[in-house]
Amino acid sequence: MSETTSNPLPQQDLSEPPPKEGANAAGANDREAAWRLLNQYTQSASLLKHALSVEACVRAYGEQRAAELGLPPEEARALVDTYAIAGLLHDFDYEKYPSPEEHPWVGNRILTEQGWPEEVRHAILAHAEYTQTPRVSHLDKVLFACDELAGFLTANALVKPTKSIHDVNTPSVLKKMKDKAFARGVNREDIVTGAAELGVDLPDHIAFCLAAMQQHAEELGLAGTTP
Ligand SMILES: [Fe+2]
Ligand SMILES: [Fe+2]
Repeated sequence: MSETTSNPLPQQDLSEPPPKEGANAAGANDREAAWRLLNQYTQSASLLKHALSVEACVRAYGEQRAAELGLPPEEARALVDTYAIAGLLHDFDYEKYPSPEEHPWVGNRILTEQGWPEEVRHAILAHAEYTQTPRVSHLDKVLFACDELAGFLTANALVKPTKSIHDVNTPSVLKKMKDKAFARGVNREDIVTGAAELGVDLPDHIAFCLAAMQQHAEELGLAGTTP
């Protein structure tokens, strides 16, 4: 507090809103708590990068959604946080519980116990086809549409001599999608279905996610090698 203040009453900072209900155990539905939870369960660097890349794409769709809905700043921030957290946490249980009997069921149980929002948990259950959880909300569709694509875009960057996401472009990604020998683990059908469910043309979806990942290239380890 400033020494020059003449007000004898204790100063109260009213700029921060009180914590909302329905948040996690830490009392805040925040990205930092999600990052901590993810790291608590995940050692693998590539799985952490996967989480961050899906987060980047899902967050970008959240920002677009908030703008389309014309939400006031606080609501927009809450929506974007929800999207980002779903992206970050969608595979947080995968390293410890990778079987279809466990992932993402165990994670969902943990998230429920910790009080994470229902919309986040539903989207996470719905990202795994075999849970047969219908993708209903925009977030459900976004998460499913971004999951495999983020992995595929990463694979596209890693085969560039520079290993830079900045050197990847949409036409080359579309071409690689037809190359069955390339990144065989990535399910092309999920990418195509995801874009269709979201109502976005595949090239636009790829370009959108590519731009989102390029914005976060540094933290994704995809900024490229210095020439
Ligand atoms: Fe998963
Ligand atoms: Fe994933």
